[in-house]
Amino acid sequence: MGWKNLLLIGTMTILVSGCSQINSLLNKLPFIADESSNNNKNQQTKDDDSPINDPLSLESIFFNEIKEVDGKNVIQNSANVMALVNKEFYLPADYIPGDLVRPNVAFSFGDVETEKSLLRKEAALALEKMFSEAATNGIELYAISGYRSFSRQQSLFNAEIDRVGIEKAEQAVAIPGASEHQSGLAMDISSQSNKFYLNEAFENTPEGKWLKDQAHRFGFVLRYPKEKIDITNYMYEPWHYRYVGVKAATIMYKHNWTLEEYFNEVKKM
Ligand code: DAL
Ligand code: ZN
Repeated sequence: MGWKNLLLIGTMTILVSGCSQINSLLNKLPFIADESSNNNKNQQTKDDDSPINDPLSLESIFFNEIKEVDGKNVIQNSANVMALVNKEFYLPADYIPGDLVRPNVAFSFGDVETEKSLLRKEAALALEKMFSEAATNGIELYAISGYRSFSRQQSLFNAEIDRVGIEKAEQAVAIPGASEHQSGLAMDISSQSNKFYLNEAFENTPEGKWLKDQAHRFGFVLRYPKEKIDITNYMYEPWHYRYVGVKAATIMYKHNWTLEEYFNEVKKM
């Protein structure tokens, strides 16, 4: 055996024994041993049980803070993106969202600058994402009416009373203060295939169907469903989408809940 072979055998011996020493050392380290992965699993389970990960728990800041003013429940935290605005809970007459922007989407009225093109920033970004993904699927959506000031809601409401009387008007148009459009979080959507009308026929268009099944992925919910008129107290509006954020929208979609039902089910954290 020459000196080269001796050197090779020596090197191999050091490497092999070195490896087994390293292995036995590694096995003693808690973050590498099997036991440690069980520890991690336990940690995971504990986290999953915590209220933060419970899909039916919601931080208190997302619940309406109410003050009674002249016999009406008036929302005090109006900028809450989950605000429950309906015939029971009103936005203050002077509430104007502070972060209104014009989303970069197609409008039925083109480039005209008007308040109804506006949405709150978070909702506007989500709307852009939704319209853009719809387009990649051959679905061409048009925004028709977003933000509405208290005074414009007043004009629309009065015009509807003149047209159909107070009882019918209240089923279709919100009393000023009770409209989600004033929150800057709602957008009425239609399509060329529906001649840009906001009517029940929109539900049967490819655009109306796509929205119904996909909007929650972008944080929007169909706010006044056909089978929930008794809960929302509004007629069916297949065109009215409300931004609430992806987490809540997905829960509402899966359980087939309106925003009223959602708030009845979730626990305050
Ligand atoms: N059409 C809905 C209910 C509104 O006026 O806000
Ligand atoms: Zn609407």
